[in-house]
Amino acid sequence: MPNVTFSSPKMRRDLTVYAPAGDRKSILGVARDHGVAIDCECQKGECGSCTVEVIHIGNKPPMAVHLTEKEKLTLLTSGKLARQEFEELELLDLAPRYRLACQYLLLDEDIVVKF
Ligand code: FES
Repeated sequence: MPNVTFSSPKMRRDLTVYAPAGDRKSILGVARDHGVAIDCECQKGECGSCTVEVIHIGNKPPMAVHLTEKEKLTLLTSGKLARQEFEELELLDLAPRYRLACQYLLLDEDIVVKF
């Protein structure tokens, strides 16, 4: 099961937490469980305030590559994801660098979350 490392200039030091098996939570949910304050307003994938950078670590290819429709729209309209980049990533089945913490559901992969 995944280790999630939160990293931010807002924190005194990075924090790595373990997300238990079968506990399908978003990055935002795991952050809250561990007292990590990621900005958020709507929690519905609509405002973009919870945008984070996700870096996959380890040897496995990234698993959580698919975006919800809300996540796609919000990242495109906020400028965190350009239309051409999005289309190229989708063709290659790759994940964009920026994601919405409230929409990204953790899978069995280790990641670093920067915000
Ligand atoms: Fe609004 Fe995540 S809190 S998009």
